[in-house]
Amino acid sequence: MSQISEPLNAKHKKSDFSCGKEMLDNYLHKQANQDIKRKLSACFVIKEVETDLVKGYYTLSNNSIPLELIPNEIRKKLPRSYKVIPTTLLGRLAIDNKFQGQGIGKLILVDALKRSYELSKTIGSFAVVVDPIDKNAERFYDKYGFIKLPDSGKMFLPMKTIGQLFE
Ligand SMILES: CC(C)(COP(=O)(O)OP(=O)(O)OC[C@H]1O[C@@H](n2cnc3c(N)ncnc32)[C@H](O)[C@@H]1OP(=O)(O)O)[C@@H](O)C(=O)NCCC(=O)NCCS
Repeated sequence: MSQISEPLNAKHKKSDFSCGKEMLDNYLHKQANQDIKRKLSACFVIKEVETDLVKGYYTLSNNSIPLELIPNEIRKKLPRSYKVIPTTLLGRLAIDNKFQGQGIGKLILVDALKRSYELSKTIGSFAVVVDPIDKNAERFYDKYGFIKLPDSGKMFLPMKTIGQLFE
């Protein structure tokens, strides 16, 4: 499995990371390592090779969504015995200001989708779910085909659709 990202480690320079959203900056500065230790989420980064400076990061964890949140068109193809559908949560994704607008956001999203797709071959996952931080982020995910889940602010992309990108 070739990925351009790597798991966050102690060598990565992350203290100056700034993406314009304080919550996402603080998460990387203060919480990401603790979440990794506690097995709450995994964190992957794209770095500047020469300096180990973090250009962008994302987090993944197991997740689930209630069947009734899934749009009817897709839900009707799923067995009704599943009240809750297993998914992969792409909880956070951010690019440092200095590197925004250079195509790295797209690269890191594709990397996250690829990693999620490969993992779904080992542990079933029906879709990748994202939780956009604001309307701007929503537009970014919308561009890549993510579908809104009603009443939750979340969006999802079926793993089957993702698989078609990589197979
Ligand atoms: C949203 C974000 C990840 C985009 O990263 P980026 O590196 O600037 O994006 P890219 O340069 O890879 O852009 C890829 C494409 O998405 C488009 N795009 C970027 N941000 C967009 C947005 N907010 N809405 C719609 N399209 C957007 C670009 O125009 C580009 O389109 P093109 O390929 O047709 O030219 C980045 O701006 C960011 O980290 N923002 C703050 C944190 C955030 O909102 N995270 C989102 C998840 S919560």
